[in-house]
Amino acid sequence: MYNTLKITRPDDWHLHLRDGDMLKGILPETTRHFGRAIIMPNLVPPVITSNDAKRYRERILAACPHGTDFKPLMTLYLTDKTDPNDVALAFSDGLINAVKYYPAGATTNSDSGVTNIKNVMPVLEKMAEIGLTLCIHGEVTDPDIDIFDREAVFIDRVLNPLRISLPELKTTSEHITTKNGVDYVKSQSKNHAASITTHHLIINRNHLLVGGIKPHYYCLPVAKREEHRLAVRNAATSGDSRFFLGTDSAPHTDPNKESGCGCAGCFTATNTMSLLAHVFDEDDALENLEKFTSLNGPKHYGLKPNNGTIVLEKSDEPVQFPEKIHTNDGPVTVFNPGQEIFWKVKKT
Ligand code: NCD
Ligand code: ZN
Repeated sequence: MYNTLKITRPDDWHLHLRDGDMLKGILPETTRHFGRAIIMPNLVPPVITSNDAKRYRERILAACPHGTDFKPLMTLYLTDKTDPNDVALAFSDGLINAVKYYPAGATTNSDSGVTNIKNVMPVLEKMAEIGLTLCIHGEVTDPDIDIFDREAVFIDRVLNPLRISLPELKTTSEHITTKNGVDYVKSQSKNHAASITTHHLIINRNHLLVGGIKPHYYCLPVAKREEHRLAVRNAATSGDSRFFLGTDSAPHTDPNKESGCGCAGCFTATNTMSLLAHVFDEDDALENLEKFTSLNGPKHYGLKPNNGTIVLEKSDEPVQFPEKIHTNDGPVTVFNPGQEIFWKVKKT
């Protein structure tokens, strides 16, 4: 039984930082514990060119709290018109670590996404050649497909055909939420892995809908049935190097969440490490926490683990997290796991 745990400083392989006042308000929630994060490019307008990424990276670094050495790992937002040479140059300059594929209309700010994967094959071929990873939001957008089936259908219709036609392309299935997503990753012997969020380890669709709709549990991909949560949780806690943390922490102000048409996204940056220690402890898998948060991700992205460490401690009293982070853009509600949590980050 562990009461304290020292692990390599973690990384977040899928993070939304936004821009302006929101960026300034929420960035410390990540830099407090994490060494690096893959930064999602779905700003308005999106981060499409290497020049966009360079300027966004500068804005993030300028917003970092004094004295932190947080490293944002930038991504480009893939569109039907992306120039393969611009992508290759950004990678060789060390400016980007991945390219993000959103099917057009799949989620928040994805209108400029890919309308048909055939349109981006020249970019993907170039990426396969130079060893650049494609991060995939794996949901179809076909209005005929039920929202709870969109991840499974994407695997059959888009992901598997892509992996067969370009097996040398390194791909990440982001924020997987289904047993189908887990099984697909396990079926692939190389060049494919998946990130898993904190909240999908904790909530299923009942948490979202039973007893009243909970806007702060609404995210995309939407939480699924309990059997899927358990499959995803087993994958995360197993230590299998093909699964790692990508929080998908996605801040929206309360008025934008608590609305007749609320935005998708759970904000978990503040308490993710505590929640993960709780989950891995419950599943008797604390020895695998470091793999999930700090070792498996760098391996997939061809990077070294961070140098520093963090210490987690289990206390006798439940940990109190702030209910909201107050930004100059408005309040952002911190994900509430709905249960008492005893693990806290002691020092970094
Ligand atoms: C993300 C956002 O708000 O940008 N929302 C979410 O529910 N995860 C977009 C995304 O990653 O799908
Ligand atoms: Zn996301």
